[in-house]
Amino acid sequence: MELIQDSPRMPLVSVKGVPLLKYFAEALEQLKDFQAWPDDVLISTYPKSGTTWVSEILDMIYQGGDVEKCQRAPIFLRVPFLEFKAPGIPSGIETLKEIPPPRLLKTHLPLSLVPHSLLDHKVKIIYVARNAKDVAVSYFNFYKMAKVHPDPGAWEDFLEEFMTGQVSYGSWYQHVLEWWELRKRYPVLYLFYEDMKKDPKREIQKITEFVGRPLPDDILHRIIQQTSFKKMKENPMTNYSTVPVEIMDHSISPFMRKGTTGDWKNTFTVAQNERFDADYEEKMAGSDLHFCTDF
Ligand code: A3P
Repeated sequence: MELIQDSPRMPLVSVKGVPLLKYFAEALEQLKDFQAWPDDVLISTYPKSGTTWVSEILDMIYQGGDVEKCQRAPIFLRVPFLEFKAPGIPSGIETLKEIPPPRLLKTHLPLSLVPHSLLDHKVKIIYVARNAKDVAVSYFNFYKMAKVHPDPGAWEDFLEEFMTGQVSYGSWYQHVLEWWELRKRYPVLYLFYEDMKKDPKREIQKITEFVGRPLPDDILHRIIQQTSFKKMKENPMTNYSTVPVEIMDHSISPFMRKGTTGDWKNTFTVAQNERFDADYEEKMAGSDLHFCTDF
């Protein structure tokens, strides 16, 4: 583990054309030897799409709804973040070594950078997608508080970078589309943040069925309660408050920020919205992937 230095903000580096944090690009080198196990489950998302939420839901399912067991460690140690590397915190690869099977794993990588072994073994993948506008706003606030990112600058500049895929992990459009297509060939459960907000019980049941761990109604109910935004915001094992302030400064913007759908309306101007919609139409043309915008 590297020691924390004063100013971790650094420019993104390109890996096979994908902009990434420098630390994460370094971790990718070490991930080349990663070996998937057949009972691994991979949680894949574009950043800010509900990764932490679905990770906590899955750990609760795996622990049979036992709240105490889910308090055993912060979420990033219970569900290793494969490409994670930052000063002062164990890397994803270090965390992996401590995790017994069956493992829950997390990544934000686009398909071109995902360790091959996961696809070769056809491990089960749970993908969570969230509408682009809420992701952009959430990501802007996250860039500000998570100081491993470059300075996001003004909102209008960040939005431009988001639309052109110049943010960490590259294009949101390409990410959601390529994992959508993958579900035709691989065991992928493709979920939407908006559906999880609307009907958490139905979406959690989809997950329990997909991972072959059905649960009785009372436990399902407990999982819904425990993974509500309010509970997770208060819970130090899910709210990232244990991360050193040099890496995540919650006084700038809390990790558990709003947890709503449609918050983009508080940030986008009318002109930005029109421009975004026109560009979106072009980028998503021809796809049958549709997001709920009814909120
Ligand atoms: P906001 O910034 O819009 O509030 P990720 O875990 O992929 O980084 O996503 C973080 C986003 O998911 C943040 O969105 C965060 O507040 C939201 N989130 C986290 N836990 C949630 C929960 N239990 N319910 C709803 N939203 C949640």
